[in-house]
Amino acid sequence: MANPKFQAPRGTKDILPQEEGYWQFVHNTFTEVMGLAGFGRIQTPVFEPTELFERGVGKSSDIVRKEMYTFKDKSDNSLTLRPEGTAPVMRAYIEHGMQSWPQSVKLAYFESMYRYERPQAGRYREHWQIGAELIGEQAPFADCQVIALALRIYEKLGLQNLSLQLNSLGDEKCRPKYLKELVKYLGPHQKSLCEDCRERYKLNPLRVLDCKEDKCQAIIAESPTMLDHLCKDCHGHFKEVLEYLDELDIVYEINPRIVRGLDYYTRTLFEVWGHAGSGSALGGGGRYDKLMKEIGGPDIPAVGFGAGVERLIEELKLQKVLPPPGPRPQVFVANLGDSARKRCYKIIEHLLSEGVGAVGKLDKGSIKAQLRSADKLGVPLAVIIGQKEVFDNTAIIRDMKSGAQEVAGLNVLAKKIKRKLEIAAQPSD
Ligand code: HAM
Repeated sequence: MANPKFQAPRGTKDILPQEEGYWQFVHNTFTEVMGLAGFGRIQTPVFEPTELFERGVGKSSDIVRKEMYTFKDKSDNSLTLRPEGTAPVMRAYIEHGMQSWPQSVKLAYFESMYRYERPQAGRYREHWQIGAELIGEQAPFADCQVIALALRIYEKLGLQNLSLQLNSLGDEKCRPKYLKELVKYLGPHQKSLCEDCRERYKLNPLRVLDCKEDKCQAIIAESPTMLDHLCKDCHGHFKEVLEYLDELDIVYEINPRIVRGLDYYTRTLFEVWGHAGSGSALGGGGRYDKLMKEIGGPDIPAVGFGAGVERLIEELKLQKVLPPPGPRPQVFVANLGDSARKRCYKIIEHLLSEGVGAVGKLDKGSIKAQLRSADKLGVPLAVIIGQKEVFDNTAIIRDMKSGAQEVAGLNVLAKKIKRKLEIAAQPSD
């Protein structure tokens, strides 16, 4: 319909059956990689107390300032649709006393997120993320483990030539000193910054480094970097992360301009870039050692990542990677006449309960039209039922490619079909 009365809200989209194979592929690959590495699946509610994100993600972040779907429920509680998955997972860790579980605690999620952003290619108001959090490990190998996990998912999906971008944001010891330097540098350039950055300069100057506007880029290019201001501990941590990555032959690019949009990060930061243009990171993450304490829990370090499922699927399409085929009909059941139609219906149900994908058109269409439908579906076999077959309790099995036909008794029909499908599925030399 050209102008329907209702449409999906701006920045959201329906996932239609043609897309479903990609979603299953990402989901299954993620589940396998995470399961093998000992990550348990966690699901948190779609909405959380607003304050969790204000404290967790940070009041000066774009997400909290401009992008949250916040509402009051009927009891006047302020709730927010989750814009990201890390703060909710930390909330769950505290709430369920996971500190007493064997450490480190490894959790993975596949969830929808909500951000009121300006919709454009690869940017939605409802998007899905696969993500993982490794909680309770301070040592640099944990950072490397999380990066390697993220890369393994991309690799298992068949994506190639992605670029790993790395940075360190320091910690509460060295970052304040650096921020002073940055503010000193940006101060005289304030008027030349874009409007957003002028605001960021006041609220969170670090975020200026992330701006994609041309006029800001020129200023950013000359700015001092956090990497040059790391304290001894943060420097040592970053160096060790790089050594672990080298050990695994993981190729990376050190990029001091990566700051990411969430305020909770400390030390290691990373992003994985694909080919769908700049500003569309396939995924990203890093260490966030102070988040748990910030939201009222124990002082426990953690590191994790999140990757956008829609963006992964875009990248799969761009790189022409096809998802493996899912379950689908393999047999079309066709009828010749009224009495055969009832029988066809029964045969379809029988084949389905035997685990054979079967469909049929139970209208009064000609046999020619029915076989055309079978062709369109791409099924290897058709079953044809006429008056005689109803009478004899038999069925005709037709090989759609060669046109060869064979009669089989109904009692052995499913078995015969399964055998034929097995043969059809075998690769021919
Ligand atoms: P994030 O970078 O905000 O990080 O989001 C992670 C990924 O989600 C992005 O790299 C991107 O692929 C995808 N994404 C984000 N916003 C959108 C959008 N509006 N439309 C489509 N895709 C989007 C986080 O959310 C952190 N919680 C990741 C993390 C986990 N860090 C540590 N642990």
